[in-house]
Amino acid sequence: MGWSCVVARAVAVLLMLSRVSALTSDIFAAGKSDKEILDNLLKNSRYDKRLLPPVDGVLTVNVSVLLLSLASPDESSLKYEVEFLLQQQWYDPRLRYSNQSHYDFLNAIHHHEDIWLPDTYFIMHGDFKDPIIPMHFALRIYRNGTINYLMRRHLILSCQGSLNIFPFDDPLCSFALESISYEQSAITYVWKNDEDTLRKSPSLTTLNAYLIQNQTIPCPIKASWRGNYSCLKVDLIFTRDRAFYFTTVFIPGIILVTSSFITFWLEWNAVPARSMIGVTTMLNFFTTSNGFRSTLPVVSNLTAMNVWDGVCMCFIYASLLEFVCVNYVGRKRPLHNVVYRPGENPVTQRLPAVLSRIGIILASPLGDKKRESTTAADLVTCTACTGAPGSCTHTANNGGVSEVRKKEPPHPIRVAKTIDVIARFTFPTAYAVFLIFFFIHYKAFS
Ligand SMILES: *[C@@H]1O[C@H](CO)[C@@H](O)[C@H](O)[C@H]1NC(C)=O
Ligand SMILES: *[C@@H]1O[C@H](CO)[C@@H](O)[C@H](O)[C@H]1NC(C)=O
Ligand SMILES: *[C@@H]1O[C@H](CO)[C@@H](O)[C@H](O)[C@H]1NC(C)=O
Ligand SMILES: *[C@@H]1O[C@H](CO)[C@@H](O)[C@H](O)[C@H]1NC(C)=O
Ligand SMILES: *[C@@H]1O[C@H](CO)[C@@H](O)[C@H](O)[C@H]1NC(C)=O
Repeated sequence: MGWSCVVARAVAVLLMLSRVSALTSDIFAAGKSDKEILDNLLKNSRYDKRLLPPVDGVLTVNVSVLLLSLASPDESSLKYEVEFLLQQQWYDPRLRYSNQSHYDFLNAIHHHEDIWLPDTYFIMHGDFKDPIIPMHFALRIYRNGTINYLMRRHLILSCQGSLNIFPFDDPLCSFALESISYEQSAITYVWKNDEDTLRKSPSLTTLNAYLIQNQTIPCPIKASWRGNYSCLKVDLIFTRDRAFYFTTVFIPGIILVTSSFITFWLEWNAVPARSMIGVTTMLNFFTTSNGFRSTLPVVSNLTAMNVWDGVCMCFIYASLLEFVCVNYVGRKRPLHNVVYRPGENPVTQRLPAVLSRIGIILASPLGDKKRESTTAADLVTCTACTGAPGSCTHTANNGGVSEVRKKEPPHPIRVAKTIDVIARFTFPTAYAVFLIFFFIHYKAFS
C-alpha cells in the first residue's frame, strides 16, 4: 500500500509537470497580456541583458533623429540648443515572440532596465541640458524581434563660426554618437536610410536659430578619436538673421556717418551747428557700437566688425576734422588785399589757385620749371609784405609777372568754401565705395 501510494504520488507529480510544460508552451498564446509575455521573455533563465544580441556577424543599430526644437540664447551667440528624439532600432532574436500573439509590439518602456540597450553616448562640444538622464520615450519590441528605442536628448552645442566674418558667418554645430564599450566589430551604427535620417518635427520650434543645411554622415576618421568604434555624425549649419544686423548695426551706422556729412553743406563759420553734428554723430556711433559689442563674444578676431567700426569712425572723425580745418583756414587773415566776392562759384574759378597753394600746380605746364619757381618766389615775397596793402611789388624780371598778378592768392574764406565743396563729393563717394567693397567682400547678401 505504501508503494502504491508512492507510485500514485509520482504519477501526480509527473502529470503536474506535464501540465506546467504545457502551460509554458502556450504562454505566448493569443490572449496573454503583454506584461505576461514580457515577464516570460525577460526571465533570468533565458535572457541576460549583459549579453549582446546573438546575431550573425555585426549587430546593426539603425539610427534616425527627429528635431524637436532649435534655439540660441541670443542672436550673436555661438551656443545652440538642440532638442531631438533619437531613434535606435536593432534586432534581438532572444526577444522574438513570433506570431503567436495578437500584439504587433510590446511596450517595454518600464523594462528599459532589464533589456539590453546600446550604450550610445554623444561626442560633442557643449553640455547636456537638464534632465541629463535621457528621457525614454518609447521602447517597443516587435514580434520579429526588432526593437525600437526612442529617447529625448537636449544638447547645448558650442558651435564653430568664422568670427572673422561675423555677422555674415554660418555657424556649424555638430555632434556624433558612438558606443561606449562595443567596437566596430560588435556594433555598427548606420543611418536608418537616406531620406529621413534627420527630420523636423511638425511642431518644431526655433528661436534665433535658422537651420539652413544639415548633414548626417558616418564620422570622418578624425572625429572618432578612439579608432575602432562605429560612429555617426550630425552636422547642422545655421545662419544668422541678416536683417537683424542690418537694422541694429549697419543701417544705424550708415545713417550716422552720412549725417556727419551734412556738415559740408553748412556755412564754413557755423561753428555751433557743425561742431554739434560732428560730436553728436561720433558719440552716437560709439554708443551704438559699444552697446552692440557688449552682446558679442569677447574675442579678438572679429575682423569684419572691427573694419566696419574702424572705417565708420574714421569717416565721422575725418568730417569733424574737416570742419576744424575749414574753420581754421577761413579765419586766417587774407594774404593779399583780396576782396571776397561771395557770388563767385568757388570751384570753377578758384580751384586751380587753391590746389596750387596746397602744392599741386595745375596751371603750369609740365617741365616749365622756371615759371613755377617764379610763382613760388612771388608767393614768398607776397607773404612777407601782407601788412601793407599795395606795397607788394614783384621783382621778377620775366614774362611770369603778369601771369602771377592775374593768379592772385585766393581769399581764405574761398579756400574754406572750396574745401567744403571738395568734401561734399569726396566723402560720400569714398564712403559709398567702402560700403560696396565691404558688403561684397563679406558676402553680406549671399
Ligand atoms: C536597418 O536598416 C537596413 C536598411 O537600411 C535594413 O535592411 C534593416 O532591416 C534595418 N534593421 C532594423 C533592425 O530595422
Ligand atoms: C507563425 O510563423 C511560422 C513561421 O515562422 C509559421 O509557420 C506559422 O504558420 C505562423 N503561425 C501563425 C498562427 O501565423
Ligand atoms: C519587424 O517588424 C517591424 C514592424 O512590423 C518591421 O518594421 C521590420 O522591418 C521587421 N524587421 C524585419 C527584420 O523583418
Ligand atoms: C536636411 O537636408 C535635406 C537635404 O539636404 C533636406 O531634405 C531635409 O529636409 C533637411 N532636414 C532638416 C531637418 O532640415
Ligand atoms: C582596430 O582593429 C584592428 C583589427 O580589428 C586592429 O588591428 C587595430 O589595431 C585596431 N585599432 C585600434 C586603434 O584599436
